[in-house]
Amino acid sequence: MNAYQDLSIDKLFRFDGDVAFVTGGGDGFGRIASMTYANAGASVAVVDIDKAKADAVVAEITEGGGHALALELDVSDRKALKETIDEAASALGGLHILLNNAGITRRGPTLDMTDADWDDVLEVNLTAVVLGSRAAARHMVEHGNGRIINISSIVGLVGNRHFAHIGYQATKGALVNTTRGLAVEWAEKGIRVNAIAPTFFRTNFGASRMQSDPDLVNAIEADTPIGRFGEPWELAGGLLYLASPASSMVTGITLPIDGGWTAV
Ligand SMILES: NC(=O)c1ccc[n+]([C@@H]2O[C@H](COP(=O)([O-])OP(=O)(O)OC[C@H]3O[C@@H](n4cnc5c(N)ncnc54)[C@H](O)[C@@H]3O)[C@@H](O)[C@H]2O)c1
Repeated sequence: MNAYQDLSIDKLFRFDGDVAFVTGGGDGFGRIASMTYANAGASVAVVDIDKAKADAVVAEITEGGGHALALELDVSDRKALKETIDEAASALGGLHILLNNAGITRRGPTLDMTDADWDDVLEVNLTAVVLGSRAAARHMVEHGNGRIINISSIVGLVGNRHFAHIGYQATKGALVNTTRGLAVEWAEKGIRVNAIAPTFFRTNFGASRMQSDPDLVNAIEADTPIGRFGEPWELAGGLLYLASPASSMVTGITLPIDGGWTAV
């Protein structure tokens, strides 16, 4: 094989036979990730609190010739989180990629925030990421190869002058350093840990909830150098890169996919 063939797209970006576990896989970024990983040759556990959504994504993948399994899980159920990770590894043949994608928010002034709002966001956005990573890494160490990707946010890197959501900001910021910490701790075990920090995207979670507030949409677009919200598929390149052999020397980073938001 010559150097040209050695740099084939297949070698850089395919991971045939690997198993991926995608939380919140039934919609938005998780749906895009599940399809991208299946396209790259992985068997994908599409995991969602809404089983019908996970089923629909699995149907799309299967119709396209890929391999996927739908599993129902609320990631804030700590016992079920571990059991579902073990179930996927046992059903699909190991675990190589974990996408910690499921996330929630409670928007509103901090002075009005309830203790329950804080606890709910912390449990889904941070605790489930750490405990899920621990459960997945116990499988990854068995074959000395794993990639964990955490979905943070631009508001985990900088402040947000458009609206308040302190639990969301605190947890997304914590993911940036959780990513560094686990990356350093697990590098010698062959597990790479990275994060993605998206800007505002047109998913149910993002833009759809802002459609009733055109002034907010306009203000966010005006603050974005590229001048618009992201489309869900525009996360696929980063999701693929960080899970693929192409990023084999990359660990501990948070990759902004933000239309230049954090460059300003
Ligand atoms: N869309 C954006 O603008 C944006 C920007 C930055 C970061 N993010 C982050 O991206 C991630 C995905 O967001 P999205 O925009 O794709 O949202 P989405 O609403 O389109 O999809 C989220 C999916 O997660 C599932 N889910 C919610 N709570 C769950 C739980 N407790 N357990 C399991 N599944 C659960 C939902 O059923 C849904 O299918 C979140 O962590 C979010 O914080 C989104």
